[in-house]
Amino acid sequence: MVRHRRKQIYLLGFMGSGKSTVGELLSRELQWPFIDLDTVIEAGQGVSIREIFERSGEPFFRQLERAALTEVLKTEPAVIALGGGTFAHDANIELIRESGGTTIWLDCSLESLRERCAGMQNRPLFRDPESLQHLLDLRLPYYRLAEFKVSTEGREAQQVTEQILLLRVF
Ligand code: S3P
Repeated sequence: MVRHRRKQIYLLGFMGSGKSTVGELLSRELQWPFIDLDTVIEAGQGVSIREIFERSGEPFFRQLERAALTEVLKTEPAVIALGGGTFAHDANIELIRESGGTTIWLDCSLESLRERCAGMQNRPLFRDPESLQHLLDLRLPYYRLAEFKVSTEGREAQQVTEQILLLRVF
């Protein structure tokens, strides 16, 4: 049987789960381009994600996110780091599934996510530890729809990358 070789890897998971760092390393290993969806949105608007949220609100950001996703999924091969909320919207999930790429959830405990997000100034949806719990609870049912789950708990980005390379989807 010929294995179907997937040409897009989507990294999904909560803010602070390591999508961008792992994505960079993975793309280097595979020698595939790396696309960070948040960076694409920021480049398109010429302002930071935080400013987009402050000036125009989350619904507008989600529109930009959908449009950026529609564009980036035309690139293959590619390692694509999604934003924390990208895979929590049905229309985005549909687009990603239609592209035929592989979805990998970088899972991590709330405790670690809190620690990693605490010092970050560029996460408009990170307000306080309680709201983080609530948001994660809303997101988990979506994240569980990913084809693969890789734990980033207590692991360096390099170790996570090695785990992903073992998934045999390339
Ligand atoms: C968001 C996560 C952020 C960014 C935006 C919204 C979210 O991406 O897309 O602030 O809804 O969880 P990261 O997960 O890369 O921080």
